[in-house]
Amino acid sequence: MSSAYDMIPVLSCENIDKEYVTERTWNGKTKTIFKAVENISLYINEGETLGIVGESGSGKSTIGDILGNLKSQTRGKVFYRGQDVAEMDEESFRKYRKNVQFIFQDPKGSMNPYYSVLEIIGEPLKMLGITDDEEVIERKVLGIMDKVGLSKSVLNKRPDSLSGGQCQRVAIARALVVRPEIIICDEPVSALDVSVQAQILNLLKDLQEEMDIAYLFISHDIGVVNYISNRIVVMNKGHIVEMGRANVVFANPKDEYTRKLVECSFVN
Ligand SMILES: Nc1ncnc2c1ncn2[C@@H]1O[C@H](COP(=O)(O)OP(=O)(O)O)[C@@H](O)[C@H]1O
Ligand SMILES: [Mg+2]
Repeated sequence: MSSAYDMIPVLSCENIDKEYVTERTWNGKTKTIFKAVENISLYINEGETLGIVGESGSGKSTIGDILGNLKSQTRGKVFYRGQDVAEMDEESFRKYRKNVQFIFQDPKGSMNPYYSVLEIIGEPLKMLGITDDEEVIERKVLGIMDKVGLSKSVLNKRPDSLSGGQCQRVAIARALVVRPEIIICDEPVSALDVSVQAQILNLLKDLQEEMDIAYLFISHDIGVVNYISNRIVVMNKGHIVEMGRANVVFANPKDEYTRKLVECSFVN
């Protein structure tokens, strides 16, 4: 029988550093190194939401990008279901790529403007080698559109003719169509009107319940992060300053910086 004690996280990392070379000498040698994040260790369990909160530039996206293999770390390890991503064989790496999906702040910017909604949502099915069969793709796309609240009538529309909220629903559908285990959501509601933000957050919550999906949820807004997360990580200048259950951290922040974030969220 399994218990919480032997549960292996879907995604985790240990002692991650990310350094950028910000200046080089005339002959290309490294002159200045900037540490974007330092000594980051965290995990996300099956079906849970881990929030990462912190102000702009604190290193949130860097962590998400490294966990999802969009960027490489300078030091440290990333694990998918306990397996070191750097040492995976092809088959395990394929599983990792399928099971770890992303949504971003600016869905339109990451969509090919010449593609229809059908092509955008269906693309990962082809890219990840799941199917090339156009009929199967259309069936899967329509199924997932229904789940994210997109009407069938937008199937052949281009991103330009959709609203911000609809575009984020398309992005969510594209992430979900391959049935991932976790979605890394990087500021997914930050560009949306407040009323639309609530709709998208509630949609993400409903989908989590229905599909047992985990989220790494990144936002600068502690109110938003607290609403959606089971646990939260607070980042300041590349470091984790506080970590714990969302309601506990929010009600009783131990760290000075977290306290400031919470206070500011009430003013806004
Ligand atoms: N390619 C890069 N070269 C140099 N510095 C970078 C690069 N990408 C990000 N940074 C810096 O790393 C820090 C963390 O960035 P980021 O993870 O995007 O923060 P956040 O998502 O919290 O706003 C910032 O100071 C940013 O300017
Ligand atoms: Mg960011």
